[in-house]
Amino acid sequence: MNTPLIAPSVLAADFANLQRDVEMLNRSAADWIHVDIMDGVFVPNISFGLPVTAAIKKHAQKPLDVHLMIVQPERYLEAFRDAGAEILTVHYEACPHLHRTIQHIKSLGVKAGVALNPHTPVSVLQDIIQDIDLVLIMSVNPGFGGQKFIERTYERVRQLAALIAESESQAIIEIDGGVNQDNAPLLYHAGARALVAGSFVFSAPDPEATISNLKKLW
Ligand code: DX5
Ligand code: ZN
Repeated sequence: MNTPLIAPSVLAADFANLQRDVEMLNRSAADWIHVDIMDGVFVPNISFGLPVTAAIKKHAQKPLDVHLMIVQPERYLEAFRDAGAEILTVHYEACPHLHRTIQHIKSLGVKAGVALNPHTPVSVLQDIIQDIDLVLIMSVNPGFGGQKFIERTYERVRQLAALIAESESQAIIEIDGGVNQDNAPLLYHAGARALVAGSFVFSAPDPEATISNLKKLW
């Protein structure tokens, strides 16, 4: 049976015990480690940057899925690749030359993702979907963990899945924000294949079991 890829977000980890939490993710059924980079400009919050990403990489045995919530992400692509990113996702809303930025990411030898804020129609990707490895649909407004899932997301996933099928793109759909055990199966059935989960995993009494359960819902 197919299951979604699970990408726990270290934004919700204990930053004073990052090595411990990354080792927990190594032992767990997690597929990727989601790394949220916030610059205080594109989003109202500041998370962490290159040195912390490199420190996570030092202990991680799973691919780093790096979500850049920053303006002018093209300035930092190579640095985040060097810090250990295997997937680099930029925001559509931060990239006036998105095609060039996608080609730049691919030239670095990593997978290229594009994130969409909740208000951005999925149809804006129509002419670039074939070039993208991953589309990240924000199911909350980016900037903070622990927010409420936006219900409209299911319809957006269905629309994007249709666009991907029509264009014979290989892109996979990732969902980020407010993911939990209740919405995860619905998202998977709508067409999502990767789920980011921050607070749901790290605030659980048993994060490892919670990750396994997210994969076993179908
Ligand atoms: C929000 C980030 C998310 C965040 C998700 O801007 O992109 O990755 O960590 O956290 P939860 O799962 O708590 O909504
Ligand atoms: Zn994220």
